[in-house]
Amino acid sequence: MLVLGIESSCDETAAAVVGDDGRVLSDVVQSQVATHAPFGGIVPELASRDHLKNARFVVGEALTRAGVTLADVDGVAVTNRPGLVGALLVGVQFAKGLAWAAGKPIVGVDHLVGHLLAAFLQRGPAPRPIPEFPFVALLVSGGHTAIYRVDGLEPGAIRELGATRDDAAGEAFDKVAKLFGLGYPGGPVVDRLARTGRPDRFDWTAPMRSASSLEMSFSGLKTQIMQHVAEHGRPEGEALADACASFQAQVTFVLTRKLVAAATREGVRHVVIGGGVAANAELRARVAEACRGAGLVAHLPEIASCTDNAAMIAYAGRALFAQGRRDDWSLAATSKTSLPRATRKGGGAR
Ligand code: KG4
Ligand code: ZN
Repeated sequence: MLVLGIESSCDETAAAVVGDDGRVLSDVVQSQVATHAPFGGIVPELASRDHLKNARFVVGEALTRAGVTLADVDGVAVTNRPGLVGALLVGVQFAKGLAWAAGKPIVGVDHLVGHLLAAFLQRGPAPRPIPEFPFVALLVSGGHTAIYRVDGLEPGAIRELGATRDDAAGEAFDKVAKLFGLGYPGGPVVDRLARTGRPDRFDWTAPMRSASSLEMSFSGLKTQIMQHVAEHGRPEGEALADACASFQAQVTFVLTRKLVAAATREGVRHVVIGGGVAANAELRARVAEACRGAGLVAHLPEIASCTDNAAMIAYAGRALFAQGRRDDWSLAATSKTSLPRATRKGGGAR
């Protein structure tokens, strides 16, 4: 089964063709970073316009690179939630047009489910070991930070175990980078600078560090850094690298500790990470080491599978098609995830 995936939930226009067993036949990502960088963040209206401008080229390129035509694909999967509604609408309408014209089935995919399944993608010549259900997953992106137990793909089989009460981890990276004058998006720059820095130079601490709760909080850490910059000015040179390392060590420590605690509590052996922050070198190293120590199997998707892409959407769509699920032409875009929120920020009981 060949599925064409289309993704336009935020600031990347992406299309991909994925075949059997998660084989990625093509994966095209058109980033809008240059469009939004002068504004220090994403401007929703500009994102929609850029998607409109780029969708045709990106989808055409994905089919060409996969060596297939629209007639060869078995279905179209498109991100329809969560995200910027204007941005999502472009992808959803584009996908409907293609599916209608080619007489193919269409299915809407939750972007977060795409991130949770990215560890199944096969990009290289050697097969990657894939996670076994049930697994515990840490989803860390610019908009979301949560830990899930994933028993399968049927409705109700993905359960939120814990989440941030305030900022997402990626949001914290981006805001701290902005405070340091490092531009947008900040995650990759902080990651790079932290490699040469000393993580013990600044005594900033992330709150809610205890492994007894799976809820998290990152906004207090950002506030400590904001106060430091207000008092002492922006760190520069060696101090900047140390500041990045000190901040990053706190975030990655908390994320890793809670992920391992969740897997242990659930009695689940397979552990997955996903989302843009899962590209972070320190997080990857910490998760790999902690899982080894706890007898858990860690699945770290390739970097291209962590940040926003359409291959993960195509793969999730393929899994839905395989279950006989598909949508009709009333498929709508919405800003909310389909995954039930269980933790306090989501209005849950805990
Ligand atoms: O998953 P993603 O591409 O988009 C969303 O769904 O949000 O995640 C983007 C986020 C941004 O906040 C970006 O700064 C962060 O992921 N990010 C990183 C790294 N690469 C991207 N954060 C830390 N280290 C990285 N290497
Ligand atoms: Zn994402």
